[in-house]
Amino acid sequence: MHAFSTIPCLPEAASTPVGAEVYRGLTALPKNLSPWLFYDERGSELFEAITELPEYYLTRTEREIFAQYADEILAAAGDDRLTMIELGAGTAAKTGLLLAAAVRRQERVSYYPIDISVSALREASSRIGEELPQVAVRPIVADYTTELDEIPAPACRRLVLYIGSSIGNFEPGDAAAVLRKLRGQLAPGDLLLLGVDHIKDRATLLRAYNDGAGVTAEFNRNVLTRIQRELGADFRPRLFRHRVRWNDRESRIEMHLESLVSQEVAIPALELTVGFRRGETIHTENSYKFTPETAAALLSRSGFAVRREWTDGRRWFGVYLAEAA
Ligand code: TRP
Repeated sequence: MHAFSTIPCLPEAASTPVGAEVYRGLTALPKNLSPWLFYDERGSELFEAITELPEYYLTRTEREIFAQYADEILAAAGDDRLTMIELGAGTAAKTGLLLAAAVRRQERVSYYPIDISVSALREASSRIGEELPQVAVRPIVADYTTELDEIPAPACRRLVLYIGSSIGNFEPGDAAAVLRKLRGQLAPGDLLLLGVDHIKDRATLLRAYNDGAGVTAEFNRNVLTRIQRELGADFRPRLFRHRVRWNDRESRIEMHLESLVSQEVAIPALELTVGFRRGETIHTENSYKFTPETAAALLSRSGFAVRREWTDGRRWFGVYLAEAA
């Protein structure tokens, strides 16, 4: 976890989670930073704004699929009572469509949204409480990637929601590890509903991560502002450019911050000076894209069998209902 906490000669700040991650990532080659650093208060706000951008089709398309097929999805999940659990629920903006469909089949539904953000969970609880009083919301503050032993184990069958193509932000090996760990918590017959973004034409993919209004660029650069604020770094965010690449071999969108000049950045709290060549990048995020075949393969190597799948008219996004095998 805190890789440097046992090395006494590093400054104290290097043993906080942010300090350790910045130290690791900016002394690595190639330079990289973990995406969880994006989500400070400003970052979470910017992310909400991204999901509403005209270029960012993912949220809208997945919502469309739920709006059209929620009843079919719940019917395919089976006849007995279900409990719903959501990984990385955030404000649960799209989940209401699935919860409403569940309420049409069974009078009461227990819903456990899991997220690291207390404020997002509060918003989710109060909105669902108002709109769907038949749903008992039981929020869990946890990081589902490291604290998955937190999965509730009620008497009835579980439907775990893992939507928004969040699985695509993990490297393939880590994605399988997260799903396998989830599988280990489930019983045969429990279900997973996984939402993933599909491979499509390059221009559409690139535009979704490089919008005209520059919101995604600001979201990406916000990580530098956070390092400035929390570790005293003298980054000048304007000397870094938001860069988006489609990596065809890996089927992934990459987000980078590219240094526009040759420069040195001091990070006093880490007693570190980081040199950048002109054009050198910090790799900040991956977003893997799938085909129905690669999505099913990921699920099957993680111990799940696809029962049914749904997509939109353009096949841009896929929703997969899989059974713990
Ligand atoms: N998982 C979504 C995606 O990969 C949302 C997301 C995560 C995102 N990090 C992002 C969107 C950074 C834009 C920029 O698209």
